[in-house]
Amino acid sequence: MKLIRSASRMAAVARRFRQQGRRVGVVPTMGALHEGHLSLIRHAAARNEVVIVTIFVNPLQFGPREDFARYPRPLARDLRLARQGGADVVFLPSVQELYPRDFETIVDVGALAERWEGRARPGHFRGVATVVTILFQLTQPTNAYVGQKDYQQALIIQRLARDLRLPLRVHLRPTVREADGVAMSSRNAYLTAAQRRQASGIFRALAAGRARIRAGERRAETVARHMRRLLAAAMPRARIEYLAVVDAKTLIPSSRLTGRVALLAAVRLGRTRLIDNLLVDVP
Ligand code: PAJ
Repeated sequence: MKLIRSASRMAAVARRFRQQGRRVGVVPTMGALHEGHLSLIRHAAARNEVVIVTIFVNPLQFGPREDFARYPRPLARDLRLARQGGADVVFLPSVQELYPRDFETIVDVGALAERWEGRARPGHFRGVATVVTILFQLTQPTNAYVGQKDYQQALIIQRLARDLRLPLRVHLRPTVREADGVAMSSRNAYLTAAQRRQASGIFRALAAGRARIRAGERRAETVARHMRRLLAAAMPRARIEYLAVVDAKTLIPSSRLTGRVALLAAVRLGRTRLIDNLLVDVP
């Protein structure tokens, strides 16, 4: 496995892969790799001749009061896991390497980025869209793999690839969960033991909402109220930032449920912000 830190070297290596006609899969990450990331890496390795994992804690997508400085960076472990997952290249640029002092351009995907996470974290998706565009540019992938865990982000990455006519496919992969349903996340490491025990309340509330829809409920507000009540009971110390029933394509709140809907949750437990979601095909 090759470790590349320089952007120009990454571009040169990617150019060579292209010239050799090799199918390249890319998995963008911020490191602190866990089973969720590994499922993306393994899936990419099974379907591409070359797999590039990018590890970059992107300052542009963190707000001034967010966890950029304390975000975990267990580099040796990440490199070992990436190799075991089947990565051929790990691209590990520094902040200066991706954002030189005179860097100015921002990618803004518009309406899709304004709701939910975009409202809770102003500027977050501009940071994501900008870095992902740069990473795609440098790695020239045939395929990119993203997790449903960050569903709004996944839609935004698909949208920017389509709007900017990037010649690649963005594949959405299912959320990998712990045994109690908690979605794997690098940020779970911030939770105290007591918070970690409560955290499964998010998945249980979402699953209960899904069960209601499958049982025939078609009023979004009824489903949302049910989820809110369960979550508040399971996690008395948590603050619900949003718990919404939305159209899965537009992320606009639904009233009567039809087609595919997304149940979205963002919850603050102490200093830690957790997000999760489920997709439901309305019968
Ligand atoms: P990060 O949080 O490291 O996640 C990298 C990729 O792994 C994302 O596509 C994310 O959705 C996916 N992922 C995370 N947890 C997952 C889980 N439990 N199951 C399945 N997939 C999971 O998301 C980012 O980094 C950044 O915003 C990035 C896209 C790299 C841009 O900086």
